[in-house]
Amino acid sequence: MTGRIRTAVLVSGRGSNMMSLIEASRRPGYPADIVLVASNRPDAGGLQHARAEGIEAIAIDHRAHPDRESFERALDEALNARGIELVCLAGFMRVLTSWFVTRWAGRLLNIHPSLLPLFRGIHTHRQALEAGVLLHGCTVHFVIPELDAGPIIAQACVPVISDDTEESLAARVLAREHRLYPTALALVASGRARLVEDRVKFESGWSCEGEIASPPFDSWSETPSTSG
Ligand code: GRF
Repeated sequence: MTGRIRTAVLVSGRGSNMMSLIEASRRPGYPADIVLVASNRPDAGGLQHARAEGIEAIAIDHRAHPDRESFERALDEALNARGIELVCLAGFMRVLTSWFVTRWAGRLLNIHPSLLPLFRGIHTHRQALEAGVLLHGCTVHFVIPELDAGPIIAQACVPVISDDTEESLAARVLAREHRLYPTALALVASGRARLVEDRVKFESGWSCEGEIASPPFDSWSETPSTSG
């Protein structure tokens, strides 16, 4: 297929969200092509999974670089050398500096396991249980220098059930992440969601309304679905 957006996924761990993006990118009409997986950890399971799918997977070990800036320059060079247009963070556990984030502004996405702006940072499921919320979920957002604070592209929610543990809640959210991230990437790669100043601007009819009206990501070239 021509005209698909060359996309890289950055991982530090098992890469289950990465796999959901790879699977989605193989569906007819999907507007992004996952052409590179990169990790700051040479032992990240995600690298092996990507290679098994025939996708180039590289390690750029942050420990081999004297500082954040030289690590990020190496990452930036690797992305540019492959003509990458969009970057998806998927369990990428390095905080990126404003130098990198600014270079990739509007082209850098992250998935976070909470309904932002609630529960930034780590242990989001524990935070949700401690807060006693009845709805929890996940968010895909554009990355800005402030952590977990970028403009929101898509969100999905799950119920919190009375005998939930961190693990059971995490599993419910993760299953929802695997559907949300491909939807959000498709919105951005197709140009239907873009960063304009500090807001996400959606093409009319295409805003992702969480569970209710997210259009199926195999129909991106067709007309948007409508919600009542
Ligand atoms: C996901 O929960 C994601 O939201 C968070 O890190 C986790 C990565 O999991 N940023 P995986 O590597 O995609 O399985």
